[in-house]
Parts: sequence; C-alpha cells; structure tokens
Amino acid sequence: MFQRQRSKEIFGLDIGSGYIKALQLKEIKDGHQLERLSITQLPPELIVDGSIIDSLSVVEAIKSTVSEMGIKIKEVAIAVSGHSSVIIKRISIPIMTEEELSESIKFEAEQHIPFDIEDVNLDFQILGAKESGNQMDILIIAVKKSKINEYVSVVGEAGLTPVIVDVDAFALGNMYEINYEVKADESIALINAGASTINMNVLKGGGSVFTRDSSAGSNLHTEALQKEFAISFDDAERLKYGGSVEGVPQDAVASVLTSASEALIAEISRSFDYFKGAVNNADVHGIVLCGGCSLVKGFAPLLSESVGINVKIVEPFKNIKIPATFDKNYLKNIGPIAAVAVGLALRRIGDR
Ligand SMILES: Nc1ncnc2c1ncn2[C@@H]1O[C@H](COP(=O)(O)OP(=O)(O)OP(=O)(O)O)[C@@H](O)[C@H]1O
Ligand SMILES: [Mg+2]
Repeated sequence: MFQRQRSKEIFGLDIGSGYIKALQLKEIKDGHQLERLSITQLPPELIVDGSIIDSLSVVEAIKSTVSEMGIKIKEVAIAVSGHSSVIIKRISIPIMTEEELSESIKFEAEQHIPFDIEDVNLDFQILGAKESGNQMDILIIAVKKSKINEYVSVVGEAGLTPVIVDVDAFALGNMYEINYEVKADESIALINAGASTINMNVLKGGGSVFTRDSSAGSNLHTEALQKEFAISFDDAERLKYGGSVEGVPQDAVASVLTSASEALIAEISRSFDYFKGAVNNADVHGIVLCGGCSLVKGFAPLLSESVGINVKIVEPFKNIKIPATFDKNYLKNIGPIAAVAVGLALRRIGDR
C-alpha cells in the first residue's frame, strides 16, 4: 500500500513548570544548526509538582510558544520526569538477545519497579555484558501511563502530535553527547536543576549508570524571597535575576538566596549518596550543571564547594552552528534552561 511520506522533521518541546521551551535543530553536513527557538515563562501555579493543574492555560502557553516560533511542523518530542512517575533502574540479568528481553522485560521489571506494572510503559537499554560470568547490565525505564497521558493530551490540545515521549535525564544525555568529548573511564554527573525538579544523570563513558529525580528546584529561591520580604512572585523573580525591588536591600537578598541554595544542594548531595550506595567505584570527575538554577548567583560555586566536585555550567549550543540571525549573547545566557530542549530536538521519528 502507498503510504504518505511522513516528514522526518520534528522539534523539541520541553514543558517545564517555569518555562516552556520549543527548539528546532536542522541536520547539516557536519552536525546540527539551530533553526528556531522560543521560550515562554509560566506563572507558578499552572504546573505544580510535575502535575498540570491548569491545562487550559498550559495549552495556550504551548500554542503561543509555537506560534512565536513560526513553525509549520506539528510533530514534537516531549519529555516527562519526576520521581513519582519515572523510574530508571540499572539491573543485572542473564545474557539474552534484545528480542528475548522484549518478551521478558515485564517479568524483570516487576521485581524492581515500585509501581503496578500495568500502570507503566516499559522500555529498556542493554548496557552490555559484565566482565565475568553470564550476566549483562540493563537499564529499565518505567514511566506512569497517567503521566504520559497528561502531557500528551495538553500537547495534542495545542494542535501538535507528540511522536516521542522521552525522559528529561536521557534528553540531557543526548545533549551532552553532541557537545562534549566522552571519555571511556570518566564519570560525569549531569544535574538539571529547574524550577521544581532536579534531575541527576550520571554518565560513565557516555552511558547512563544512575539517575535520580528530586522534587525541589529554584522555586525554593523565589518562595524564600517572597516570604522574607513579603513580595509578589514577579518581584521575587526580578530579585533572583539580579534586579532590584524598592525597599529590599541587596545583601539581604544574597543571604536568602544562599540559604535556599544550601537546601537544594543538600538534596543534590543526597542524590550523590544514593549514587555511591548503588554503584561500585562511584568517583565523579565533574558536574555539568543545567537548568535555571545554575543562573542563580552563587549557586554553581557553592555546589562545587559543598560536594567537592568541579562544576561546569552547561553549554548546550557548544557544537551547534548558530546562524547570524540569533543573538549569541542571549543564547549564552539562556543556554542552561534550553539543555533539555536541545536534547529533545535531536530526536528523530523512529528512534527508540
Ligand atoms: N537569569 C536567571 N537568573 C536566576 N534565575 C533564573 C534565571 N533564568 C531562569 N531562572 C530560574 O530558573 C527556573 C527555571 O529553570 P528551568 O527552565 O530549567 O526550569 P523548568 O524546566 O521550567 O522547571 P522544571 O523542569 O523543574 O519543571 C525558574 O525558577 C527561574 O526563576
Ligand atoms: Mg525542566
């Protein structure tokens, strides 16, 4: 039968609780080129703890983000995250083929996933045979169907077709792969600290060895400022961005931000503790910090000092060709919040 040729082109849509980001990349001879990018800030009450509270407003925000981009493509790659809906686990099982594992993944997953297996979409990645014996390591990825439906449905209502539903941690991995040199024996922690979620993905030789999502983020900075100075969300955001608000002394702002940063860093340290408990030889050689939190003054150096690991702020456009029509300075400034969207924009229809 004749099948209509489907356009291979898609774009990445990262529906964060703080910002919606839409980003399109074009494949060029020696890599990728940025085609389009659009970012819309959301008011704080639309998406709370990863749940879409006000879907009508989120649909409107997606529509306006996409219309500002001026794009005809309807197919998008989206992602979900959050510890209550996404579980990624590395386990060892007897060596088998991909087909065999497809058959038995449900059985393997049932023993390791704390959700009802009927309530999740399952996927896996074979990481490779262990050095000794007849075991191999795999990653099991379980995502609650209800969470997927929630996001797929707002995207659909905005007139788009979600063709890929990824998880934030893996989108970051893809973004990393095209921008950084992967060294076989090096472990790098990708940490994405957004408005209300922190995703951690530790890569060893480029492959994921550990992931953990926590429900905390830079909203903590904003809420602390609102509470301390009895100001609105918008005023608190302005202070966070380095602006000023009448009657609020700058040094007091700095100390409120520092204590909120300390609370977030304590959560990141907990993720490192879990990582050390889960993986042998848990040395981490560097952190690549993504997400809006990395733009909060003092956060990155404080993180580095607290965990004793070198922290680099992500450059998601490092290896992406930027046409002259884009403001390079702007892209540098917003880079960290576009990291997941870059990873999503790299996906193609038919990818697993
Ligand atoms: N220049 C800046 N200075 C300080 N904070 C900033 C800056 N830009 C963004 N932020 C903060 O970063 C956060 C948004 O980051 P990001 O876009 O990574 O989160 P998100 O993806 O929307 O949220 P999540 O994934 O947690 O739902 C907001 O809390 C925002 O206030
Ligand atoms: Mg995010």
